[in-house]
Amino acid sequence: MAHGLTLDGKTAIVTGAGNGLGRAEALALAAAGARLVLNDLTGQAVHAVADEIKGAGGEAVVCEGDIGDWATGEAMLGAALGSFGGLDILVNNAGVLRDRMVFTMSAHEWDLVLRVHLRGHFIGTRMATGYWREQSKQAGGPVYGRIINTSSEAFLLGSAGQPNYAAAKAGIAALTVTTARSCAKYGVRANAICPRARTGMTRDLMGAAPEGTIDPLAPEHVAPLVTYLASPSAAAINGEVFVVHGGVAPATASVPGSPARRRWPWPPRRSDSGAAREAARPGRDD
Ligand SMILES: NC(=O)c1ccc[n+]([C@@H]2O[C@H](COP(=O)([O-])OP(=O)(O)OC[C@H]3O[C@@H](n4cnc5c(N)ncnc54)[C@H](O)[C@@H]3O)[C@@H](O)[C@H]2O)c1
Repeated sequence: MAHGLTLDGKTAIVTGAGNGLGRAEALALAAAGARLVLNDLTGQAVHAVADEIKGAGGEAVVCEGDIGDWATGEAMLGAALGSFGGLDILVNNAGVLRDRMVFTMSAHEWDLVLRVHLRGHFIGTRMATGYWREQSKQAGGPVYGRIINTSSEAFLLGSAGQPNYAAAKAGIAALTVTTARSCAKYGVRANAICPRARTGMTRDLMGAAPEGTIDPLAPEHVAPLVTYLASPSAAAINGEVFVVHGGVAPATASVPGSPARRRWPWPPRRSDSGAAREAARPGRDD
């Protein structure tokens, strides 16, 4: 269980859960007690993650499909309701790369990346928020809803060979903040991470993990923040974008009025990062 948090009785959807960050996040959510709906493209990987969760005593079902398809979103929500009776947490994570300079990029390379990342995030968000809004109306008050989106430093820094990816990730940050604002009254909290991790997506860039020591770029260092943001403990955090890797997680944006704007409630160890300590300083950007 990450940081003493419990997600007992909660149901989570993770997209792109067969590999890399999605796999690590799904395992961490399950270890904290959540029941999982695992989405990925058709293939063995996502079933292996489900088997791993079930082998450790958890509950998981697989919902294969392209997250850019509306029907996949409907099927994921249907799996959560049908298998576990509800939905509490959505982790939008699935993604692909088609890197090219803007002056040589094809329309197909642009459309595919925008479709999987931005449309994929929209579809998951549309299904989950529609469900939570309805639940909130029936309950006559806020319900439990957590969205953790996956943006990227590529949008913050303007990655030169990734105009499609950077634009999609900027859109995801904007979608996160607008979701946070529009759905807070229903009990929904929406935040985004900009992770760094050694995965299939970044293997060429980051190379092999160091041997005989902790890998600071292991996806397992990102997963605890996702688990935290999915938990009741993060109820006061909404509309934030976090850079997270190797245990360092500075806050980079915030909705006015959010407590995280004044005080970062999940501080890293004092030795971890000057930037993170600066983010934790009271009154930083009031
Ligand atoms: N690894 C990093 O350093 C890093 C940095 C910034 C952002 N990200 C983001 O993190 C997320 C996960 O990336 P990763 O590094 O784990 O990559 P990865 O390639 O290891 O995993 C991506 C997963 O998404 C799945 N996927 C791809 N297209 C899909 C679709 N249409 N529908 C459903 N699933 C699909 C893949 O099959 C794969 O399992 C992505 O959104 C990526 O952009 C990663």
